[in-house]
Amino acid sequence: MFQMDRFTLALLATILSSTLVAGAGWEFVQNGTSGILALEAIIVSPTLAIFFDFSLTGGPLQINGHSAWGALWNLETNEATALEVVSDTFCASGGLLSNGTMVSVGGQAAVGGTIAVDGRMGVRIFEPCSSPDGTGCTLFDNPDLVHLAETRWYTSSLRIFDGSLMIVGGIHEGAQFYNIDPVNSFEFFPSKDGGVPRPSAFLERSLVANLFPRVLALPDGKIFMVANNQTIIYDIETNTETILPDLPNGVRVTNPFDGSITLLPLSPPLYTPEVLVCGGTNMSDQIPPANLSAEDPASDQCSRITVTPAGIQKGWEVEHMLEGRMMPELLLLPNGQVLIINGAETGYSGFSSVGIVQGNSNADNAALTPSLYDPSAPLGHRISNQGLPTTDIARMYHSTASLTPSGNILLAGSNPNVMVNETVKFPTEFRVQYLNPPYMSLQRPTLSGVPIKIAFDSKFTVQVTIPNLAPGSLPVKVALMDFGFSTHAFLSSSRLVWLEATLSPDRKTLEITSPPNNRVYPPGPGYIFLTVGDTTSVGAHVMVGSGASPPVPDQGRKI
Ligand SMILES: *[C@@H]1O[C@H](CO)[C@@H](O)[C@H](O)[C@H]1NC(C)=O
Ligand SMILES: *[C@@H]1O[C@H](CO)[C@@H](O)[C@H](O)[C@H]1NC(C)=O
Ligand SMILES: *[C@@H]1O[C@H](CO)[C@@H](O)[C@H](O)[C@H]1NC(C)=O
Ligand SMILES: *[C@@H]1O[C@H](CO)[C@@H](O)[C@H](O)[C@H]1NC(C)=O
Ligand SMILES: *[C@@H]1O[C@H](CO)[C@@H](O)[C@H](O)[C@H]1NC(C)=O
Ligand SMILES: *[C@@H]1O[C@H](CO)[C@@H](O)[C@H](O)[C@H]1NC(C)=O
Repeated sequence: MFQMDRFTLALLATILSSTLVAGAGWEFVQNGTSGILALEAIIVSPTLAIFFDFSLTGGPLQINGHSAWGALWNLETNEATALEVVSDTFCASGGLLSNGTMVSVGGQAAVGGTIAVDGRMGVRIFEPCSSPDGTGCTLFDNPDLVHLAETRWYTSSLRIFDGSLMIVGGIHEGAQFYNIDPVNSFEFFPSKDGGVPRPSAFLERSLVANLFPRVLALPDGKIFMVANNQTIIYDIETNTETILPDLPNGVRVTNPFDGSITLLPLSPPLYTPEVLVCGGTNMSDQIPPANLSAEDPASDQCSRITVTPAGIQKGWEVEHMLEGRMMPELLLLPNGQVLIINGAETGYSGFSSVGIVQGNSNADNAALTPSLYDPSAPLGHRISNQGLPTTDIARMYHSTASLTPSGNILLAGSNPNVMVNETVKFPTEFRVQYLNPPYMSLQRPTLSGVPIKIAFDSKFTVQVTIPNLAPGSLPVKVALMDFGFSTHAFLSSSRLVWLEATLSPDRKTLEITSPPNNRVYPPGPGYIFLTVGDTTSVGAHVMVGSGASPPVPDQGRKI
C-alpha cells in the first residue's frame, strides 16, 4: 500500500493551503472621494449607491451652483455624481420598497443659511435606475406633494412584510444630545390608518436615549425593537407590544449611545430568529451631557437572544468584543458571518455636546481593526480579528458601511463636526474605502441565468461555475441578502436568508428554492450569493416577490 512520508504530507499540505489562501487576504483599499459627506448610504442598483449629507456641510461636489448634499456613487468607476435634493437629509433614514424604489425619510428642519427646505417630513423617491452610471435617474423630492404625517429627525425605517416602510420614532426639533422633543409614534410609507401615526408606549418608556430605534422584521412579520436598554416585539396587525427582557448590565444602544443590532442569518426550515446587539454604553441616561467625556469607555458587550418563547425565557446571552465600541456597524456577510467595523472605543455619538470633547467629537480612540462574529461558533469563541487588517481612516460619527453587489464592503463618511473641518483629529472624511474579503483576489464561483424576478416558495435553476480548487466536499451555501440602509451605526432592513440549494452531480447547475413567504423576506430587491468553502460569488440582483408597489398581499406558503 502506498504511504506518504511525513515530509511529503507536510509539503502537500503547504502547497494545498497556499493555493487555497493565495491572494492578499483581507485588505483595506482606498479609492475615490465621495464629494459630499456620506453620512447615509444605500446600494440602489448593481453599480450604484446613494449618499446623503447635511445641506450645509459644504463638501466640494457642486450642483446647480451650490454644494450638493446627495450623490450617486458609481461602484465601478469610484466616482461621485451630484444629485439634486430639495429638503434637508441630515440624519434621515430610508429603505427600498417592494417595487424596488428607494425612499429616504425624515431629516432636519431648514436651519439658518441653508437653501434646503425643511426635511423633517421628507419623503424622497428614487425609482429603480437601470442606467449603470445613473444617467437620467433623478430624485423626486417635493415635500408639498409627498410627505410624512409627523416631523421626524433621527427616525428609523424598515421594510415590512407588505413591502411598505415602517417609520419609527425620532425627534421634532434640534436638541443638543438627548431626545427631549420626542416623536413617540410609528407611521408608514405609503401611509396606513388614514395617515394617522400610531402612538407608541415603548418609545415613551425608552426616553431619553431612544433616537434611531433599532428595528428588525421578524420572519413572522412582527417587529423586534430595541431602544435605549429596552426591547419589545411589536405586532403591526394588532397594534400591540410584548415586552422582552432589557439588555443586560445596563447597556444602552440607541442614539446618542449608539450600539448596533442585526438579525442573524435565517435558516430553513424554521427560520428561527436570533438577534445580535453589540456596543453602546452602560452609562446612565440621567447624566447631563456636560458630565460625560469623549474618553469614557464604550461597552464591549454583545448580547444575543433567540426570539422564540423558549429563547425569551432563557434571556440574553452575553459575550465581549475585543474592544469597546460606540457606533459600530454590524454587517452581514454572504458567508453568514457578521463583520463588526467602524466606531470608537470611547465616548458617545454626536459632536460638541459632551463636557470633554476631542476636537468637536463626542468620541475618541477610533476602533481601526474590524472583527468577525461567527454566529455558529460556541459562546465565548465567536469574535476574532485574526487576519483582519487595520486602517488609518477613522470612521466616527456620521460614517457609513455597506456590503456591495461585488461582495466587498463599502466604507465612507465620518464627520464629528458641524461642517467641513480639516484641522481636528477627526476631520470631515471624503475618502471612500473598500474592505476586501480574501475571496476578492481568489478565483470565485459564478452564478448565471439567475431570474430577474423570483416568486416566493418556488424553485429555479441557475448555472454555476465552481473553482477547480474547491474540493467536492466543500459546503455550498446560497444567501439571499438585503444590504440595508446605513445611517447612524445601523443598517436597517439588512437581512440574510439561507436558500435551500441542490448542486447537480456535474456541479454545473444549482436548483434553488426561494424564501417561503413575504414575511421571511420582506418583498423587494435582493442579491443572491453563492459561497463554496471560503470563496463567494458576485451577487446576482433579483426582485423577490411580484415587484408590485406596496402594500402587497401575503404571498407564498405559511410556515
Ligand atoms: C480605483 O478604481 C478604479 C475604477 O474602478 C480603478 O481603475 C483603479 O485601478 C482603482 N485604484 C486602486 C488603487 O485600486
Ligand atoms: C434599563 O434602564 C432603566 C433606566 O433607564 C433602569 O431602570 C433599568 O434597571 C435598566 N435595565 C437593566 C436590566 O439594567
Ligand atoms: C455633574 O457635574 C456637576 C459639576 O461637577 C456635579 O455637581 C453634578 O453632581 C454632576 N451630576 C451627575 C449626575 O453626575
Ligand atoms: C460598564 O462598562 C465599562 C466599560 O466597558 C466596564 O469597565 C464596567 O465594568 C461596566 N460596568 C458595569 C456595572 O457593568
Ligand atoms: C474646526 O474645529 C475646531 C475645534 O472646535 C475649531 O477650532 C475650528 O475653528 C474648526 N474649523 C472650522 C473650519 O470650522
Ligand atoms: C413604488 O411605490 C411607491 C409608493 O407607492 C411609488 O411612489 C413609486 O412610484 C413606485 N415605483 C414604481 C417603480 O412603481
